Amino acid sequence: MLTLREYRPLDFERLLEIDQACFVHGIAYTPTELRHFLNLKSAVRIVGEQDGEIKGFVIADKFRSRRSDQSMGQIITIDVLEEARRTGLGSQLMTAAEEQLRKAGCSYVSLEVAVDNFPAIKFYKKHGYTGLKILPRYYLNSLDALLMGKKL
Ligand SMILES: CC(C)(COP(=O)(O)OP(=O)(O)OC[C@H]1O[C@@H](n2cnc3c(N)ncnc32)[C@H](O)[C@@H]1OP(=O)(O)O)[C@@H](O)C(=O)NCCC(=O)NCCS
Repeated sequence: MLTLREYRPLDFERLLEIDQACFVHGIAYTPTELRHFLNLKSAVRIVGEQDGEIKGFVIADKFRSRRSDQSMGQIITIDVLEEARRTGLGSQLMTAAEEQLRKAGCSYVSLEVAVDNFPAIKFYKKHGYTGLKILPRYYLNSLDALLMGKKL
């Protein structure tokens, strides 16, 4: 059974382990980076459990757009362990994060994804995100990112 709940500090090591299993060295967060994002004042932090074990999580945040003075959401990361993929966990995490951002007053949400991460790009498109622009050499100073966005 899939259940979602808020992040608790005791989950930290498990989230680090999942992030390192989901991304290659250099793109996966260091403990300091992960702690930084989890500690952001307005961070959305949701974990997904399958039969009581954490299998995935999402971190998002909101910021004030300089151009429009509106609150915007940003998906910082969404990670699901390979063994738990294609079971709808990622979708549940995404929907819950967007809902929290909407309630926090965000009218738009954006994210960055590596241009070669085809599964994630398909996942985001399924969730209504469209490609906005390429961010050259965004990862490891060599791999381009695709900036994607969606109206909430
Ligand atoms: C992207 C990710 C979060 C998706 O999680 P998930 O739990 O597998 O997602 P869901 O089961 O909710 O998938 C929903 C839909 O997205 C699409 N999708 C997801 N994975 C896909 C894949 N590997 N290939 C093609 N489409 C895919 C499908 O349309 C899928 O619906 P379906 O299974 O009914 O066909 C997961 O693959 C992941 O953690 N990847 C590694 C980390 C990562 O790349 N994160 C995002 C970059 S920041």
